[in-house]
Amino acid sequence: MVSYKDLGLVNSRDMFAKAIKGGYAVPAYNFNNMEQMQAIIQACVATKSPVILQVSRGARDYANINILRNMARGVVEYAHELGCDIPIVLHLDHGDSYETCKECIDNGFSSVMIDGSSLPYEENVALTKKVVEYAHQFDVTVEGELGVLAGIEDEVASEVTHYTRPEEVEDFVSKTGVDSLAISIGTSHGANKFKPEQCTRNADGILVPPPLRFDILKEVEKRLPGFPIVLHGSSSVPQEYVKMINEHGGKLKDSVGIPEEQLREAAKSAVCKINIDSDGRLAMTGTIRRIFDEHPEVFDPRKYLGPARDALKEMYMRKNIEVLGSAGHALD
Ligand code: G3H
Ligand code: 13P
Ligand code: ZN
Repeated sequence: MVSYKDLGLVNSRDMFAKAIKGGYAVPAYNFNNMEQMQAIIQACVATKSPVILQVSRGARDYANINILRNMARGVVEYAHELGCDIPIVLHLDHGDSYETCKECIDNGFSSVMIDGSSLPYEENVALTKKVVEYAHQFDVTVEGELGVLAGIEDEVASEVTHYTRPEEVEDFVSKTGVDSLAISIGTSHGANKFKPEQCTRNADGILVPPPLRFDILKEVEKRLPGFPIVLHGSSSVPQEYVKMINEHGGKLKDSVGIPEEQLREAAKSAVCKINIDSDGRLAMTGTIRRIFDEHPEVFDPRKYLGPARDALKEMYMRKNIEVLGSAGHALD
């Protein structure tokens, strides 16, 4: 058993309380490798933002749990060396079972998500409660989920959105004891969030997705005053990177993400964690494709992974400052 406390990590409890009070959301950026992790820490130190380093089950298998734990320990020291001891959470994203969550808790994670959202309600309650009972013995915080997002997360795909039913949230939180709740209000996983037929076109001919269901969010907030809410599927799919990928040999479909103004609005509410994965993938892939195309002589991985890391850093800094509003809040 390795405690996250010995790695210099924190759980999400204080972080979320401060985010709700301060009207911002903490970024939860997914990572799978060293360059992504470095970029996240560099961006969050540069903007003095708290951060949640998020690992999917797929990422855990890809990178190895022992390596991940030691990378997390390493970035706590790295942040210190860069000049700001930002609070850092190591979080399991979309945990699928009690066993997966337990393994992460036993291996230094400070926060886990148990995603029972596709189960019947009572089974979701029972599974989430079991994870909370284990996690809280070690002061690890737990995120649960009600409602199903469209899109693909790990191997689970849903064609349609099942919005969170506000009438269930109080019962779920009180029965399970979760520390935060992910809800479904129209965000969606992956780079292809909306089909063109679900969107309208604005005066410039740009596809505009259906607006987020702020009415559901408000109703949830009314029923759970001051309780931390999480938004998954919150990539904005930067068109600059979609274009870069396609101009340099890629084949991405036309795609739109969640408009940044809507995320900014959500961050001012009880939404205190916003999950972003796909945008990082797009920025990294676009940059690497551009370099391969423009410099076919390059074969040193540092020559393309380094610039990809810089592009990620810049994108995350901008999100912290302009979208999540978390910049400047690391030492609140
Ligand atoms: O929603 C979760 C992640 O974006 C999926 O990531 O492809 O590493 O499982 P993954
Ligand atoms: P995106 O696919 O929109 O980046 O969502 C990521 C996510 O929700 C991770 O849990
Ligand atoms: Zn997610």
